[in-house]
Amino acid sequence: MNKPLDFGIYYDEIKETFMLQMEGASYVMALCDGYLGHVYFGKKLGYIPGKDALRPKDYTYLSGKPADKCVFMDGFPFEYSISGTGDFRVNALKVRNDDGFVGGELKYISHRIYDGKKDLKGLPHSFGKEDDIKSLEIDLFDKDLGLTVMLCYSIFRGLDVVAKSVNIKADRELYLEKVMSSSLSLQWNNHELITLHGSWARERIPDRRVIGHGITSIGSSRGISGHQDHPFMAVVSQDADEDTGEVYGVSIVYSGSYLGEIERTQHNELRINMGINDDGFSWKVSPDDDEGFAAPEAILTYSDSGLGSMTRTFHDFMRKHLIRSKYLHKKRPILINNWEATYFNFDEEKLLEIARVAKKAGIEMLVMDDGWFGRRDSDNCSLGDWTVDRKKLPNGVDGLCKKINEIGLEMGIWFEPEMISPDSDLFRAHPDYAIQIPGRDPSWCRSQYVLDITRKEVRDCVYEQVAEILRSSNIKYVKWDMNRPITDVGSTVTRAGEFHHRYMLAVYEMQERLLNEFPDLLLENCTSGGGRFDPGMLYYSPQFWCSDDTDAIERLGIQEGTALIYPPSSIGAHVSICPNHIVGRTTDLKTRGYVALLGTFGYEMDITKLNDEELQQINEQVEMYHKYNDLVREGDYYRICSCSALIHGNEYKKSYAWMNVAVDKSEALLTYIQVRGGANERSEMIRLKGLQPDAEYELPDGRTFYGDELMNIGFLTDKLYGDGAGALYHFVRRK
Ligand code: DGJ
Repeated sequence: MNKPLDFGIYYDEIKETFMLQMEGASYVMALCDGYLGHVYFGKKLGYIPGKDALRPKDYTYLSGKPADKCVFMDGFPFEYSISGTGDFRVNALKVRNDDGFVGGELKYISHRIYDGKKDLKGLPHSFGKEDDIKSLEIDLFDKDLGLTVMLCYSIFRGLDVVAKSVNIKADRELYLEKVMSSSLSLQWNNHELITLHGSWARERIPDRRVIGHGITSIGSSRGISGHQDHPFMAVVSQDADEDTGEVYGVSIVYSGSYLGEIERTQHNELRINMGINDDGFSWKVSPDDDEGFAAPEAILTYSDSGLGSMTRTFHDFMRKHLIRSKYLHKKRPILINNWEATYFNFDEEKLLEIARVAKKAGIEMLVMDDGWFGRRDSDNCSLGDWTVDRKKLPNGVDGLCKKINEIGLEMGIWFEPEMISPDSDLFRAHPDYAIQIPGRDPSWCRSQYVLDITRKEVRDCVYEQVAEILRSSNIKYVKWDMNRPITDVGSTVTRAGEFHHRYMLAVYEMQERLLNEFPDLLLENCTSGGGRFDPGMLYYSPQFWCSDDTDAIERLGIQEGTALIYPPSSIGAHVSICPNHIVGRTTDLKTRGYVALLGTFGYEMDITKLNDEELQQINEQVEMYHKYNDLVREGDYYRICSCSALIHGNEYKKSYAWMNVAVDKSEALLTYIQVRGGANERSEMIRLKGLQPDAEYELPDGRTFYGDELMNIGFLTDKLYGDGAGALYHFVRRK
């Protein structure tokens, strides 16, 4: 009996089969008459399988009857399909030649297997040590188009993850009109779809539905990944819950317009695509372009043990292989942001007043939000004029920063570098800097236009202004905001069909430049809250402002959806004032602290207006953050109770609870929030997860429990009174 295959990438020449062997999953492709087909992605196999899944006998074409080629093209499970020659399903690639014809046929020509992984130039991408990654490149070729499509795959030691990307070159001018980063064929038909749906101030709420026949899609054509559909899909078996069932996760390392689509075909197979949105997309490739067109990287995960395991795979993957920041494994400074405290109405003295009280409360950084530049007393002017408003800050940013540092706090600052206000000196001097279709008035949104940063001189102009502020003061943190979608796509230099993608490449280039010039800067991205919270931006900033909705109860759903794939260390979360400015709800300050603890933690309020008792509570929260942040940031995250649609027949209807468990299981933090108090209701008995079954765990009050007891019988929560009441339980394993 042969030894089962270990972690690695294998090619069996006789079977013409590729096999990617992960920790607990296998991904298999094989050739049939030179066509590359998808055989399998799922629970780990020991050995290279046969290729019956490609159904070679179902197609008369393969046995040499060209008249039936159409049957073949529309039925073969292509690993990467192309439009125009008979595959009528949702295709991965669409290419138009100079004469306007669409059609192609991709056949295998060569492949390479190697250790490590190559960079995707100009695009965010996963990375890691050479020993921990294996990669495969397969070249497919269309002889009539002179088109080479290179499919790239990487797998990561210890994780059930495949990273895929695609590079396309041509020996003549062609137009790429659709390029998916990943296409996946599944034979099964009883699966359901989980996506993250939302809107401004209620981003990433889980949504679960049956996958019917035809095409189901999610996407954004806004030029940002958006608050609405999120670039993530989980295809799950009907029985999938937190701990059981099959789960395929698909995500993309990209922040612009994207498309995710699933077709349940006439034969009940699923084709699942994810890539750049093809709406309006048309990218010219030509022989003099040595680099070719690089599609963003897609991330696929597999779990045969439910959604919880998918979540932890994504968290580990992002923490090990995607988020680069030196702050990733560091406790972030507790900051106080003045946005909800003052909005545009502040001056130096007000900020210093906040800083003084914040210092006493143990807060470590003051972030000056929107309103410090130009004549920005409201949101209708000055974007693009990054010069300090001396009426508000007579001593400049530098002067303010010095005073804040003297108080003992670090300072952070807000910018919105991608924008231009019609009422700005920049616009008056360069009206053509705004994205616009010649002859048409561009749409306003928050009284602003978007800068055409695909033009180098525009990027340089705004970058230099931002950098000058950072060069001349001791700023430690930048909040990079972006507050409107892109409309009226037109540029004096960039082809409309390439605009959205080139815009994203420009954002990535600017952030890369910023990090290179200021390597110690802590960068937090933001897009009217979480409108561009995606794996692409996390390559540049270790944290993202999760949502403009800071209401603790609303945040339960928003943060649960966000943490479905993003690690707590990336979730920007602050305690804000009540009644909450967005929803008008009043929630216990204690609960507000517990909820913000599942993220970067900070404050967003006028702390000078709090009474002594509230300030005392803030001191306690600061202590709580210092005590638990290592565990939350580095530990494993488990959903325990949820009011969301993630799980069928969810037994917990009135509460959210989650656990952060140390990787070595030595301690665990359980957060329990009762959303709604009810009459004559008993305490909830909830089953904990992730503990060591035979270890004894102790709570601070001295009570002890065995791990298996807590995970099977459950833990009886305290009786809580009132809407939004919460409790925190810290279990420590006894020696
Ligand atoms: C949107 C952000 O999400 C807020 O936190 C704040 O920075 C405002 N923009 C400022 O305009």
